[in-house]
Amino acid sequence: MLDPSAGDVVLDIGCGTGQTLLQLAERVGTEGQVIGVDVAPLLLEIARQRTGPLSQVRLIQADAQSLDLLSESADAVFSRFGVMSFNDPVAAFANFRRVLRPSGVLAFTCWRSLKHNELDHLPLSAAGLQSPVDERPFSFADPEYIRRTLEAAGFGEIIIQSHDEKVSSGDLDAMTRVLLKVGPLGKIVRENPALRTTAEPLLRKTLAALGDPSKVELLASVWIVTARAGAAPR
Ligand SMILES: C[S@@+](CC[C@H](N)C(=O)[O-])C[C@H]1O[C@@H](n2cnc3c(N)ncnc32)[C@H](O)[C@@H]1O
Repeated sequence: MLDPSAGDVVLDIGCGTGQTLLQLAERVGTEGQVIGVDVAPLLLEIARQRTGPLSQVRLIQADAQSLDLLSESADAVFSRFGVMSFNDPVAAFANFRRVLRPSGVLAFTCWRSLKHNELDHLPLSAAGLQSPVDERPFSFADPEYIRRTLEAAGFGEIIIQSHDEKVSSGDLDAMTRVLLKVGPLGKIVRENPALRTTAEPLLRKTLAALGDPSKVELLASVWIVTARAGAAPR
């Protein structure tokens, strides 16, 4: 359903360091606009450096939930893993719908459950830490919850598809390094650096046991969600 074309206005919610801004900017061209929104100033600064020469990219530092943009001003609202942390998801999506034109499209990816994501549960169990796991990235794991949230926000034509893919950051060294920085284990280690000494050798041993150390892959499982703003009463 998401198929940005030249001249479109597209919002990238939780754009982070801006990789998808570059891809969207190429699609909409200089006659279109890509508006990247993120709450984290340091990530947005990297996005600013990456997209600097692109006149069609605009960046906004804000909580996307209360984004103050003109009604019916956008053709698409896109997000890659940036919509799972809203305090009031219905209010956030209702606001995105307000900003979309009636023909406008919402398209985002979000994580399925922790148990569906080897990428997250394998490092956690390998490291054997007792620290609590941050469940927020998995807040949209239940497709019925996604559907109810989007319906309550006024969206129609809601399609929720699962997508599984083996992902890799490279060899054993690279994968060990990345999993200690990002994802649920990475968050625990970032917040408790002393735990790294225990976690690192255990994680490395488990990853090494998977086989080929030149490319370590783990299964990631996501929902790809699309919906239409529609012209229902606002
Ligand atoms: C997992 S990262 C994904 C970044 C980027 N979309 C990507 O795929 O590389 C989630 C991003 O959403 C941002 N984010 C989370 N909650 C947000 C909110 N309420 N408003 C704006 N940005 C938010 C975070 O700062 C972070 O950059």
